[in-house]
Amino acid sequence: MTDSPFTGLVLGIESSCDETGVALVEVRAGATPMLLAHALHSQIDMHQAYGGVVPELASRDHIRRVLPLTQSVLTQAQRDLAQVDVVAYTRGPGLAGALLVGAGVACALGAALGKPVLGVHHLEGHLLSPFLSADPPEFPFIALLVSGGHTQLMRVDGVGRYDILGETIDDAAGEAFDKSAKLMGLPYPGGPWLAQLAEQGDSAAFKLPRPLLHSGNLDFSFAGLKTAVLTQAKKLGSDLPLRKADLAASTQAAIVEVLCAKSLAALDETGLQRLVVAGGVGANRQLRSQLDAACARRGVRVHYPELHLCTDNGAMIAMAAAMRLAAGVAQADTAYAFDVKPRWALASALAA
Ligand code: KG4
Ligand code: ZN
Repeated sequence: MTDSPFTGLVLGIESSCDETGVALVEVRAGATPMLLAHALHSQIDMHQAYGGVVPELASRDHIRRVLPLTQSVLTQAQRDLAQVDVVAYTRGPGLAGALLVGAGVACALGAALGKPVLGVHHLEGHLLSPFLSADPPEFPFIALLVSGGHTQLMRVDGVGRYDILGETIDDAAGEAFDKSAKLMGLPYPGGPWLAQLAEQGDSAAFKLPRPLLHSGNLDFSFAGLKTAVLTQAKKLGSDLPLRKADLAASTQAAIVEVLCAKSLAALDETGLQRLVVAGGVGANRQLRSQLDAACARRGVRVHYPELHLCTDNGAMIAMAAAMRLAAGVAQADTAYAFDVKPRWALASALAA
């Protein structure tokens, strides 16, 4: 006898880095799980003074925020805690102390309510976040996952059925944005600032490398680009402030060109007709417009998460848990002895 598919309410908690996110998703039989409410607190202002995330401050702030956010989500959704069927949390990858807050709170809530818990892989959250949009994708598709720490192209055939086709061999695209922004003197996190500055610049002003563009495979490399930006910034010397927008636009153009070219190559290689873009860099307007234009020419559909759900949030964690439970590829459990996985490859999470 097979168990009937999961239906019910999933509370999701995200605390892997500098955003505390909580959300409530409802799973109904035969339908895409639905987001009932979500709440988010970003720590960006707190970390900005230090030019990057301070892990100890991040953990302490997650502790302060997580329960009020949970209360706010329940109030918005007009549900109470006792109605929650599963408590999901980000188990990794991320900052160990920050992850421990979400895991600890989720397991304590589960134990207090007598409800099972489920640890979720942060990248699977990003990957499935486009299912939170009004126009969700259908399987199979190519996914371009571009977060602060990861750059991967995957073939996605269903929930839990992910084949990595290519990934970065050094820095992630988000890191390339952030590190280039930092050496231009822009605030943390640099990606959105660099993108904003780039709008006033000339993307052809500086010739920057397009690493691995013609490598013949689907891997990426962005460390050399960052070095080239540094060299260019040094060459400009005291002229840097005047040419910053041009350098930002040239840097963005190099990153976007490589991401687009490799995404198109992945579509060609697999013959798939659908592309999903997820992760913080997926919020980049230039990336979106270039991908939209190139895919429209090929009759390929592109799906993105809603703009405010591109960066870290609780909705994607609740959604990933809900989809795993609904598809029967994961089961929540009542062993509340939790651990976290600061370094965790998606492939090994799925094999577990
Ligand atoms: O997915 P995410 O919130 O966190 C991780 O899981 O890492 O991604 C954060 C990354 C940062 O590198 C940030 O600078 C970048 O996404 N980012 C952007 C934009 N918005 C966020 N990069 C370029 N353009 C943007 N508009
Ligand atoms: Zn993330």
